Amino acid sequence: MNTILIGIAGGTGSGKTTLADKLIDSFGDDEVSILRHDNYYKRHDDMCYEERSKLNYDHPDAFDTALLCEHICKLKAGEQIYMPVYDYSIHNRSEETILVKPAPVIVLEGILIFAEPSLCDLMDIKVFVDTDADVRILRRIIRDVKERGRSLDSVITQYLTTVKPMHEQFVEPSKRRADIIIPEGGENIVALDMLIERVRKHLKNK
Ligand code: C5P
Repeated sequence: MNTILIGIAGGTGSGKTTLADKLIDSFGDDEVSILRHDNYYKRHDDMCYEERSKLNYDHPDAFDTALLCEHICKLKAGEQIYMPVYDYSIHNRSEETILVKPAPVIVLEGILIFAEPSLCDLMDIKVFVDTDADVRILRRIIRDVKERGRSLDSVITQYLTTVKPMHEQFVEPSKRRADIIIPEGGENIVALDMLIERVRKHLKNK
């Protein structure tokens, strides 16, 4: 099978997950599979919750990228993999895994995927979702408080101490590696349609 890997990167709250979800919703499970870098955050079973909550989750070293690369290579070779599942409410990997089957198109999304040369080398199309920082922090506050069990104070402290500086150091410069830059992610229907057409073309010629 001729498999292509489409990377969708962008800062926290940029809309990359919405774009990736809308893209995969247009196709069947046997056509497009999805991987998320967040699911590959390293395990920290040796630490207590308090210690884990203080870690820097916006640095490339926070992820087990070697495992993700291994999984991408297996999928490209036609083998299925078990993607880890990450639980933000406990800051740790859960015991569950998700079965991901090989498909002609694999979508990979994550804030730091273009900051990792080993991952970039495996990508055929690199899309960066570019959204203003004020919109991103507003989305992040709402999501983290409503869905990830965080307090407003903790979201603000984390944003100022790690999320913002790491975005400036790693995420923003990684935009230069992109083939396409999409403003506003999943709400950009023109860009979404173009990506869907590109995937259709690959599926026709695979
Ligand atoms: O979905 P999104 O791209 O925003 O997810 C990445 C964000 O998740 C990072 O900016 C990181 O700060 C956050 N994160 C967190 N707590 C964890 C793991 C990741 O707040 N335990």
